[in-house]
Amino acid sequence: MTTHLHVTIREMKIQDYADVYRLWDSLPGIGLSEADQQPAIQTYLNHNAGLSQVAVQDNRVVGAVLCGHDGRRGYLHHLAVAPEVQRQGIGRALLRTCLERLRRLGIQKCHIFLIPDNREGQVFWEQNGFYLRHDLQLMSCDLID
Ligand SMILES: CC(C)(COP(=O)(O)OP(=O)(O)OC[C@H]1O[C@@H](n2cnc3c(N)ncnc32)[C@H](O)[C@@H]1OP(=O)(O)O)[C@@H](O)C(=O)NCCC(=O)NCCS
Repeated sequence: MTTHLHVTIREMKIQDYADVYRLWDSLPGIGLSEADQQPAIQTYLNHNAGLSQVAVQDNRVVGAVLCGHDGRRGYLHHLAVAPEVQRQGIGRALLRTCLERLRRLGIQKCHIFLIPDNREGQVFWEQNGFYLRHDLQLMSCDLID
């Protein structure tokens, strides 16, 4: 657990779900789907124990990020900081905590997914060591009807 500008960064628990979902839902740049419903997030947290983080200020969740890996590469989803506390280093602190945990697990590269018109998000990632891939495109397949 780390403390940053009176904000504590700690592991996300399922008990944080309602606060975290409300935060995600309030922010453009975060695309939500059925994969973000509580049972799916519970599965995600169990599968990636201790990796996802929240930022808490005065008992209030002001930041969150999902972090996981597949044994090969790391993935971050839905990094979010409440508008009134943005630009205070909370996003970076959440990111650093996740990357350090992935590093300790031997993961050597981490990917994120960015909605193409999220310019501010892109600047954040670029300022924090991420680079846009021009050699890859994301393709997906639905496993349910
Ligand atoms: C992206 C986000 C998580 C950044 O959180 P944050 O706590 O404000 O970021 P930080 O204060 O740690 O910023 C670190 C650095 O990133 C860059 N940065 C962050 N937000 C920026 C913005 N809006 N415009 C330009 N640069 C920005 C700056 O270089 C900043 O350092 P500085 O403040 O010393 O200049 C936050 O803006 C957010 O929740 N956005 C909406 C959701 C979203 O788009 N998430 C990303 C999904 S892929």
